[in-house]
Amino acid sequence: MSELKDKFGRPLNDLRVSVTDRCNFRCPFCMPAETFGERYEFLPKTEILTFEEIVRVAKIFVDLGVSKVRLTGGEPLLRNDIEVLVYQLAGIKGMTDLALTTNGYLLTEKAQALKDAGLHRITVSLHSLDDEVFGKMNGQGFTTERVLQGIETAARVGFSPLKINVVVQKGVNGHTLVDLARFFKRRGHVLRFIEYMDVGTLNGWRMDDVVSADEIIRRIDKELPLEPLERSYPSEVALRYRYTDGKGEIGVIASVTKPFCGDCARIRLSAEGKFYTCLFASQGHDLKTHLRTGASDESIKELIASIWSNRTDRYSEERAQLLEAGAHATRAEMFQLGG
Ligand code: GTP
Ligand code: 5AD
Ligand code: SF4
Ligand code: SF4
Repeated sequence: MSELKDKFGRPLNDLRVSVTDRCNFRCPFCMPAETFGERYEFLPKTEILTFEEIVRVAKIFVDLGVSKVRLTGGEPLLRNDIEVLVYQLAGIKGMTDLALTTNGYLLTEKAQALKDAGLHRITVSLHSLDDEVFGKMNGQGFTTERVLQGIETAARVGFSPLKINVVVQKGVNGHTLVDLARFFKRRGHVLRFIEYMDVGTLNGWRMDDVVSADEIIRRIDKELPLEPLERSYPSEVALRYRYTDGKGEIGVIASVTKPFCGDCARIRLSAEGKFYTCLFASQGHDLKTHLRTGASDESIKELIASIWSNRTDRYSEERAQLLEAGAHATRAEMFQLGG
């Protein structure tokens, strides 16, 4: 394990890799359809890191202390032959956890290949079981059917228990949370309710749209009694609870009302090859140019280490002051960073 620490003593453990900026959904809180229409120009193929480049960078990160890697997008299952990348990453010595976050639309087709390639865990986003609410939240009017089928297939090929992410927006899906809890409790998957965040610049986020983690837990606990659990690892983003009947657990990701920057050990790599030291960073650090102009692994490692050791990000803990100062004017979008 590397001794690399940032300015607040936080290690670098966790790498999130966005493998594409494209998505087949248009969730209004991430890729609003008005902006991402037919004419929107996504990154051309030549600008996206190749599998070889991603694997090279991942190895460098593992050398620097990373042991967990999560593949994201956009929608990662839209990247051709994603299972080939999974296979290559799974073979890296020192990689103890390899996971993927998907909207589940293509999961039925891909689940077995991902399992065979050596993927350890899958998280599926599903914000409601109500087709009308879900259709609105995916921006395409898609029903839940394919996603539920994807979840079932993934569980069947051996990814059970899965984590299911629910972004909670007041007045949109806030009234459908208990249904989700009952449904996934029966199936043994771990639901995680995420406080709606002000990521990117496009979703017109307002504090009034957030349902707090305390309120979410209160609503579930009233119908299905809960008790808190310990974190399973120090930089875990979710606060965990178990049902008092001993059958199942849920989590809440309270990045707005109970920020967790103090333990944040995550770094993010965008599909175009920039890395970001915070989900809310206004600027990334270019790696692609170095990768494509003959830089050595050692010099890339030094570059990352020097940026990490000067890191002072703690956006969620400073949100109120930063928003007042206009911080949201420039920053990367959720579909570029994959959450
Ligand atoms: P595990 O490895 O299973 O603990 O998963 P994870 O929580 O890292 O992954 P996931 O992609 O499911 O993330 C869940 C939610 O937490 C997403 O909405 C992320 O954007 C959010 N999240 C993850 N890391 C951070 C972070 O560093 N800061 C903030 N503010 N949110 C984060
Ligand atoms: N706030 C909270 N979560 C979000 N996600 C996307 N945009 C937001 C937002 N503004 C979720 C995705 C996915 C996870 C990586 O982040 O739905 O579950
Ligand atoms: Fe696609 Fe995920 Fe963004 Fe929705 S939140 S548009 S599924 S990348
Ligand atoms: Fe980490 Fe930035 Fe999220 Fe804080 S806001 S937990 S520093 S990514």
